[in-house]
Amino acid sequence: MKIINIVGARPNFMKMAPIIEAMNRYPEQIQHLLVHTGQHYDQKMSKAFFDDLGMPKPDINLEVGSGSHAEQTARIMVEFEKVCLQEQPDLVIVVGDVNSTMACTITAKKLGIRVAHVEAGLRSRDMGMPEEINRLCTDVLCDYLFTTDYMADENLLAEGVAKEKIFFVGNVMIDTLLKHRVMASGLDISSRLGLEPGCYATLTMHRPSNVDDKATLQGILEALKEISGELPIIFPIHPRTRKMAEQFGLSHYFNQGDQVQGIWLTEPLGYLDFLHLNMHARMVLTDSGGLQEETTVLGVPCITMRHNTERPITCEIGSNVLVGNDGDKILAAARKVLDGDAPKGQVPEKWDGHAAERIVEVLLGK
Ligand code: UD1
Repeated sequence: MKIINIVGARPNFMKMAPIIEAMNRYPEQIQHLLVHTGQHYDQKMSKAFFDDLGMPKPDINLEVGSGSHAEQTARIMVEFEKVCLQEQPDLVIVVGDVNSTMACTITAKKLGIRVAHVEAGLRSRDMGMPEEINRLCTDVLCDYLFTTDYMADENLLAEGVAKEKIFFVGNVMIDTLLKHRVMASGLDISSRLGLEPGCYATLTMHRPSNVDDKATLQGILEALKEISGELPIIFPIHPRTRKMAEQFGLSHYFNQGDQVQGIWLTEPLGYLDFLHLNMHARMVLTDSGGLQEETTVLGVPCITMRHNTERPITCEIGSNVLVGNDGDKILAAARKVLDGDAPKGQVPEKWDGHAAERIVEVLLGK
């Protein structure tokens, strides 16, 4: 079976790494190629993750770069079509919900190539999120839908997807977390920064709904500034957020000095360093999807600055709370954690480090 695995943006890399590893156990049955669309291209947003995760270099890089949604999607489709015609794969595997996921799915399906979606069935019901559109388009077209939890199965069934196409395999991102947990724990990044476990928070924030509007971004930063008076906040800033904060004249909220205090900026961190910081953090503040899952497994309180989530299981049984982007709600949730009143949570079924193995077994009909 000839398979093309697709990655494009930062959150794809940790999902694809264990799938490649699981495929490597079947060299007789599976020949696989890795295609990077180039949606993310900065060293710190892309190559650093390949190094941290021990991933092979992409066989092909489409080098599409940034652009409007239509431009980026279209460029990926044009370039990926050439690859499909040249390589004639039996199957394309896409992960997550970024533009690369949808673009490669549409391209392959129109050429009659089967496609598997890993992390299928997640729904935020928020059509203002580009990722929700990507999820819906991808899932409706795919031949194999690999899901992370029972809610995703329910979503797909409710949308009329045939039961035989849905496979509840667990969470590949958690495969990667569990594999690297011990290694990350032993790193020296917190001691280098002079941080004690439990005495800081980490922050990620890059969603257009939070950072592309000045008043919204300022409201969030005000709340974060207040929290950071009690607990320093480490913020590995996303290029999009840096650009918007500079454009809006809000960069004065950030501490860009050497001392870890206030909202303290770093460049985007590698996978292992960031995992280390998160596992020892008092709380994580985020608008990311993946961190809601990672904190659930780490048992670290997660405050999600969004009005909805495509990962409701992390709120139902995990350590995640949704607070939207209202400053008072963000502050109230942080106060609860500081007062020791945060949900502990449990780990969802099959988030056990073996999801990628299950995927490959399904593909091989085992
Ligand atoms: C993309 C995904 C989002 C994911 C996020 C993780 C989509 C629709 N969005 O959002 O789901 O959570 O990745 O980071 O696919 N930029 C750089 N260097 C890079 C990449 C981007 O400077 O390597 C800057 C550019 O100014 C670019 C902007 O960031 O215009 C946004 O990048 P883009 O890939 O369009 O979306 P993200 O916001 O990163």
